[in-house]
Amino acid sequence: MEKKKVLLGITGGIAAYKSAELARLLVKAEFEVRVIMTRSAAAFVAPLTFEALCGNEVAIEMFPREGFYATRHIDLADWANVFVVAPATANFLAKAATGICDNLLTTTFTAAKCPVLIAPAMNSNMWDYPAVLKNVEVLRGYGFHIIDPESGDLACGWVGKGRMAEPQVIFDKTNAILEGSEALKGKKALVTASRTEEPIDSVRYISNRSSGKMGYAIAERARDMGAETVLISGPSNLREPGGIEVVKVMTAEEMASAVKEHFADCDLLVMSAAVSDYTPSEPYSGKRKKSDKDLTIELKPTEDILKSVSRNKDKQVIIGFALETDDQIENAQKKLKDKRIDIIVLNNPNEEGAGFDVDTNRVDIIGIGGKIQKLPLMSKRELAREILERAVSLLKGE
Ligand code: CTP
Repeated sequence: MEKKKVLLGITGGIAAYKSAELARLLVKAEFEVRVIMTRSAAAFVAPLTFEALCGNEVAIEMFPREGFYATRHIDLADWANVFVVAPATANFLAKAATGICDNLLTTTFTAAKCPVLIAPAMNSNMWDYPAVLKNVEVLRGYGFHIIDPESGDLACGWVGKGRMAEPQVIFDKTNAILEGSEALKGKKALVTASRTEEPIDSVRYISNRSSGKMGYAIAERARDMGAETVLISGPSNLREPGGIEVVKVMTAEEMASAVKEHFADCDLLVMSAAVSDYTPSEPYSGKRKKSDKDLTIELKPTEDILKSVSRNKDKQVIIGFALETDDQIENAQKKLKDKRIDIIVLNNPNEEGAGFDVDTNRVDIIGIGGKIQKLPLMSKRELAREILERAVSLLKGE
């Protein structure tokens, strides 16, 4: 079997000495380990220590005098199955949170698409500094895994929170992430996102304010968990994610036919798109001229995509969304039953931090039998993880 590849980033804190133990644990578990150190890290622990442990040359300089080649940061980023930064100093957290690329580690970090684990370590007063805590939240929001520092004696003589998590804890989490990154391997995930636009005439349409952020986050997460992923997206300003087949559609009818085309051989369908429930019965072929009279546009219902495809449900796990402002739980439970789906994710656009075009969401997840789980406010990326972890359990028949 091909060895799993771990890229270990080490920044300049005294906890760098513990990273040698982490490297040893990773190598012992048959992972291939490559190390990037910052210059400050190399002042704490000699790179030779890691070279001896991992059997690879430690990379430090962005522009080394010898052996330089222009795409090393990209090659390292692409090589890794998981990127672990331990210890991560306050300085590194600030740079990572703002996308600064001023050395080989930060540049490679910005280029990495694999799952990321960050283990901060610093003095407890530094950890308490508002900007540091904010940077950690930003990084969590980007979907990175963070192992909070532990409390105890610190090298600086203080007692408090700031000590890097033990190497064994970081090792266990790395393992869990690698397993998670395979959780949907061999599976096909079909995700819909954004809104539909239903033409009134050649220049006007009926639509809603869905941005697609939730659906794109789910598709990216499904890809990162190893699924072959198809994203059926209505109009959206979001950048097309890599490694995903993106099918662009405009209307509810187009979305319905794209979903039907891919449904039979998918294992998981997540319908996060806000599909228009009505469409103009007879869209005008040119641009409609105005007049002094009232205008009535006749609308006809669109096909309920979830209802249609769930009739042909075979092995598929089906997840839907519900957007409710009144009698939320009751309505969502009704949708779960009527549409014959496995999970419904309920959100209320009027709740703080939830709804359209924001990066966070606050939802209740309702499963078979109507069981409700209330989740806290979290980033859409974190929520994507929560949703897909439940999909994995259902696919396993749990
Ligand atoms: N949905 C669908 N086809 C439609 C409309 C909605 O498959 N024509 C899906 C959505 O993608 C979502 C779920 O059904 O996963 C619920 O969407 P929502 O708009 O909350 O509910 P509706 O069924 O449209 O009912 P209502 O608008 O009356 O609340």
